[in-house]
Amino acid sequence: MTILVTGGAGFIGSNFIFYERAHHPEDRIVCVDKLTYAGNLSTLAPVLNDPMFRFYKTDICDRKAVYAIFEEEKPDLVVNFAAESHVDRSIENPEIFLQTNIIGTAVLMDACRTFGVGRFHQVSTDEVYGDLPLDRPDLFFTEETPIHTSSPYSSSKAAADLLVMAYHRTYDLPVSLSRCSNNYGPYQFPEKLIPLMIANCLSDKPLPVYGQGLNVRDWLYVEDHCKAVDLVLRKGAVGQVYNIGGHNEMRNIDIVRLICQELHKPESLITYVTDRKGHDMRYAIDPTKIHRDLDWLPDTKFSDGIVRTIRWYLDNRDWWGEIVSGEYQSYYERMYGNR
Ligand code: NAD
Ligand code: DAU
Repeated sequence: MTILVTGGAGFIGSNFIFYERAHHPEDRIVCVDKLTYAGNLSTLAPVLNDPMFRFYKTDICDRKAVYAIFEEEKPDLVVNFAAESHVDRSIENPEIFLQTNIIGTAVLMDACRTFGVGRFHQVSTDEVYGDLPLDRPDLFFTEETPIHTSSPYSSSKAAADLLVMAYHRTYDLPVSLSRCSNNYGPYQFPEKLIPLMIANCLSDKPLPVYGQGLNVRDWLYVEDHCKAVDLVLRKGAVGQVYNIGGHNEMRNIDIVRLICQELHKPESLITYVTDRKGHDMRYAIDPTKIHRDLDWLPDTKFSDGIVRTIRWYLDNRDWWGEIVSGEYQSYYERMYGNR
């Protein structure tokens, strides 16, 4: 079988490719990635010479190029991880989010229709449900929670989700959708909370916490997300949405304090900065459906996963050191310079 994976040079896509090669070595993987600032070919070094792996540097919005790849590779299954994924960048400049996240998804689904692909799986996010209040810990996002977005990023992901369901109903395209909570683990780009705080801690730089740091996110180790996507892709029902999360809610400030503690750095590095515009308060996934229907449960406890993640960043300074020395510098200055 051939599985076409888009966005495989990014954080979750690369972890998914490693997961597939380890658990399904009989399947070929074709990776399509534009290599934006968030994509890093060196991440894929362990599989680049693998005869069961092929890489195309291609924009998923480029219809002609995408169709040519489908013609050549004849994928059986397609998983779409490719996206502009950072909320702060979407607030700064929404347009590319609409282009990649919405148009790119439509181009891929048109290719799936044209070439008779057996399953199109869209990797979505819990952010499409909006947020929950801090004083209602009894509330969780289920697959029936209405779409209610806050940022240009989440709105673009929600638009793609609606298109996916529309292609299923209108064209009978065999689709599935998963909506996961916040991931952490190896190869996450250092603009996101956990790797940014680790990298700053290691350089004794201020740790910029938005607002009062009381916002809550529901953290899942990336490999557990990959295992869930693999299950939905192979065994999930067509036309269904599956929420993915491990009931691990934490306040941002507690995550940052934990990172300081693990790295033996003083909490005086913590700096409270101007809040993110439209900042969602709390995300919390109810994963009952994927557990009940596909027997999925996370394997990694946060206390183990965070230590493993910090260790990975300590052991792989070259990987992120190169990133933070390039274009990231001007991004960081724009985002945090006068905050
Ligand atoms: P990422 O930003 O680390 O990686 C995105 C990848 O997509 C990069 O390799 C980039 O080069 C590629 N890409 C971007 N635009 C492209 C285009 N036009 N054509 C081809 N490739 C393109 O993102 P991530 O954190 O790995 O997220 C992957 C997916 O998972 C996204 O769809 C995101 O919405 C979703 N998601 C992420 C999280 C999370 O916590 N990171 C949680 C839930 C869902
Ligand atoms: O919930 C799933 C989503 O999780 C994914 O769909 C997104 O692609 C992914 O980026 C992530 O979105 P968040 O906005 O939750 O992640 P981020 O790491 O940007 O921020 C996590 C929290 O930390 C959020 O409340 C904002 C806060 N934060 C973030 C940064 C980068 C800070 O306080 N300081 C920071 O410097």
